[in-house]
Amino acid sequence: MPEFDDYGFIRDRPVPPQRWAEALKGAPPGRRIIQNTIPPGVLVVQNYFAPAWCDALTRECDAARSIRHTVGELGDDDGFAEAETEHRTSEAITVQQLSIDIVAAVRSFWTSVVGPHYGANIEWFEEPEILKYGIGGEYKVHADSEVWDQPAKKWKRVLDRDVSILAYINSDFEGGELVFPNFGFGLKPARGMVVAFPSDGRYLHWAKPVTAGTRYAIVSWAAVEGGRRAHQAPPFNAIRM
Ligand SMILES: [Fe+2]
Repeated sequence: MPEFDDYGFIRDRPVPPQRWAEALKGAPPGRRIIQNTIPPGVLVVQNYFAPAWCDALTRECDAARSIRHTVGELGDDDGFAEAETEHRTSEAITVQQLSIDIVAAVRSFWTSVVGPHYGANIEWFEEPEILKYGIGGEYKVHADSEVWDQPAKKWKRVLDRDVSILAYINSDFEGGELVFPNFGFGLKPARGMVVAFPSDGRYLHWAKPVTAGTRYAIVSWAAVEGGRRAHQAPPFNAIRM
């Protein structure tokens, strides 16, 4: 136990970060849910996933087969064209080949964190996949559910996604910051961190190029009950709640 002063504060406070572990021996890892210092609507949960879970998953991903994402064209409105395949230089790892249950982990985040935070009931979420970015890999500025309609000068919904999540399982890379250019806000992904934000055009984002190492991100998108719909049916990879 740390020593306390006459008023119950830890003596010699503030304890510097390098002495936290010593002063708080036996306590679980801290978790911070940031809500006030970042743009409204963006939710950053640090250390949501345990380090050991992240490390095991990273090892599986290192050994897994991945498929190169190609630059895509926006398809017709009936197909579930990716709004976000433009300018993407990453590879994808499907969850089926992993022994760790990513779907269960992501489902739990949707229901226990995202739903309550946004005051919404999740209707479905898209089967998560893991994006792998090697050196030079990036994902240029895009929105997850909308495309910019240049003649009409407005964002057009093409995918039924209301909320996006990005979960990070490793920290051992350089570059790869997540940036929201509309808000001049960016963050460095870290092991265990999950970021959620609305999927529309206001929340344009950019995964900057990785300059060293490999960056992994679990991605998924959800539709909330009562949300606007561009399509008559959920996408093929929807997992209903
Ligand atoms: Fe995205």
